[in-house]
Amino acid sequence: MNSYIEFNSKTKLFTLGNKFFQYKFFINSKNYLQHIYFGKPIKDFEFDETINLNWDWSKTYLDENDVEHLYEDNYYNDRSLMEVPSQGAMDKRGSLVKIRDKNGSTYTKFKYVSHVIYNGKPILKTLPSSHTSTDECKTLEIHLKEESRNVEMILCYTIFDNLSIIVRNTKIVNKSNEIINLLKANSICVNLPESNFDLIHFHGDWCMERFKERKPLSNLKNVIESNYGRSSHEKNPFVILCDKQTNEQNGRAFAFSFVYSGNFKIEVNVDKWRSTRVLMGINDEDFDFTLKENDEFEFPEGVIVYTEEGLNGISHNMHDFVRNNLIKYKNAKKHRPLLFNAWEGCYLDFNTQVILDYMEQAKSVGSELFVLDDGWFGKRDSDDRSLGDWFVYEDKLNLKKVIDKCHDLGMKFGIWFEPEMINSNSELYRKNPNYALGGKGNERTLSRHQLVLDTTNEQAINDVFDMMCNILDNYDIDYVKWDHNRNVGEISSAVSYGETYHRLILGTYKLLDMLQKKYPNVFFEGCASGGGRFDLGMLYYNPQIWTSDETDPVQRLFIQYGTSYAYPLSTMGSHISKSKMTSFKTKAHIALFGTYGIEMNPCTLTKEDKKEIQEVNELYHKYHNDVIANGDLYRLSCPFETNYMSMMSVSKDKNNALVLFVNKMKENNRYRFLKLQGLDRNSKYLNNYDNKTYYGDYYMNVGINLTRWLDEFSSFVIVLTKQD
Ligand code: DGJ
Repeated sequence: MNSYIEFNSKTKLFTLGNKFFQYKFFINSKNYLQHIYFGKPIKDFEFDETINLNWDWSKTYLDENDVEHLYEDNYYNDRSLMEVPSQGAMDKRGSLVKIRDKNGSTYTKFKYVSHVIYNGKPILKTLPSSHTSTDECKTLEIHLKEESRNVEMILCYTIFDNLSIIVRNTKIVNKSNEIINLLKANSICVNLPESNFDLIHFHGDWCMERFKERKPLSNLKNVIESNYGRSSHEKNPFVILCDKQTNEQNGRAFAFSFVYSGNFKIEVNVDKWRSTRVLMGINDEDFDFTLKENDEFEFPEGVIVYTEEGLNGISHNMHDFVRNNLIKYKNAKKHRPLLFNAWEGCYLDFNTQVILDYMEQAKSVGSELFVLDDGWFGKRDSDDRSLGDWFVYEDKLNLKKVIDKCHDLGMKFGIWFEPEMINSNSELYRKNPNYALGGKGNERTLSRHQLVLDTTNEQAINDVFDMMCNILDNYDIDYVKWDHNRNVGEISSAVSYGETYHRLILGTYKLLDMLQKKYPNVFFEGCASGGGRFDLGMLYYNPQIWTSDETDPVQRLFIQYGTSYAYPLSTMGSHISKSKMTSFKTKAHIALFGTYGIEMNPCTLTKEDKKEIQEVNELYHKYHNDVIANGDLYRLSCPFETNYMSMMSVSKDKNNALVLFVNKMKENNRYRFLKLQGLDRNSKYLNNYDNKTYYGDYYMNVGINLTRWLDEFSSFVIVLTKQD
């Protein structure tokens, strides 16, 4: 095994590491877990010097008998770097957990009790969590106890042999016979004794998800959060902290992510001592969870990345983690059929004949999976009705005929659901108005005319499950697109207010779980008005997610570039659409650096359009799975900062690489050498741009000569193949 977890019983120091990093903390004299080091692996460690604050005055405490003592080992509550920072003491930099007891006290201090080290990692019962074989990872499980209540914490750190990643799992168990309320549940706390970082996060809106912003870390509380009931378009549960000089290729960076799809909050707090504390967890606004005797609360899993290989190094770790250790669908790494989606072609306005015609044309342009989107159920002629009525709209569509034809044409068939929503104009709502969130005498804000299904309500979940099974049992369906088209608000539900947001997402996971257990061969794609729920929680269930409702290729350059920092290209739903902004060739090039699919009215495609698409289809079939879906991504030029968006992906064996280059504005023939990355420097590669063969070394240091006139939105996909 490459990874190790050591405990020094003399200094009580834990060291977790592998060839990429070391992480150190110790049990201090007051039995708190005190952080020491996170960085490059080092041979020798000067323990005393690392915790020396060179500060002698006023480091005292008063014991229960009013006797004043000096804290040992340089600990001071207000200053020390902590793994489980307490609530209500002198440390105001943000606590990990906050518990309220029946007296109203929220003072919360967890202290070390015992630990075990084992191979393998914990799998969560109620939430998605990462997985691996037991011989590839190690876990340090620490048991802690709250100082004044009989409440236990089980805190696990898992490290992997081949990843520069630490996964943190936390569980609280109420062993007391009194009710407690959990008010704060952070999954990550990383304290670093420095603050001269840049903070990178990904913000946006509908149709402009995950725009990258890089700013010097401010000496404030920096908060990135969602309270929309989903991870949201506006912010993403993923941030990077890096040194000022870190770029895509080089430099130190830390990243933090979260296996959760509901409300989240990331705090990056710089304190007066110039240390940085990163906290990440369930958003504590509207969170108040009651735990009775013996109740357990599982925190969502937190993911921490460390690299010295620049921002590409962060992405390589995240991408491998998502593909190998997170996504649970068994065939996710296999080649996926070329997907055609009918939505942007006909929206809700179709009948059987329209779909049959679409299918013929979709097939003629190379599609292998036909997806019928919204509009096939209930009486869904417009978007103000029928969500919740998951039975076929027979007057509009002969679903059996459509599916038979699809299979006759040799294509797989996929269908759209929006299981977590309900329209007031639906049979389901008329029968069960209590299945929708809110109400109870209050006005409810509609969004796209719809209400949110109360997934805290078992009966509601079961009814939707039964209706979906009825479709999946009676029709031959290979793929499900799972949509979610509004933010969540006005949450009065079947359970108490402070538990609703969290229980809603637990209900969603449960429904996904029930369906995926019953239909293990059906491929699920996530969606939330485009990319409003692009997170590790959803990726556990859905190996791909529709990245954005914006299919304009130029806007997509930014969206896909930003999304690629955390999420592999194999997860980013991307389609060639009808947008008039660029040629079909350019649209196809940009879609190729995602999952690759087509979405439009295919009957409008000319022979010339089809030819352009089919040329890129060939690349898709030949290279996509090895090179793009499962390879290593290198971002070469940033569209937020330059006139170009360029990225390349290299197969794991370094035998093939695909390079995407797109420019935004027209440019004359200025010097433009595109320096590549990730190739084998001593091997020769043939490229299909000038059809010549050069050493990897040449491509990476001199670059491909793109000195030429460029019209606006011109694009190239350059294929490199090893010649040895
Ligand atoms: C929003 C999605 O992002 C679209 O792709 C489409 O499925 C519509 N919903 C359907 O209502």
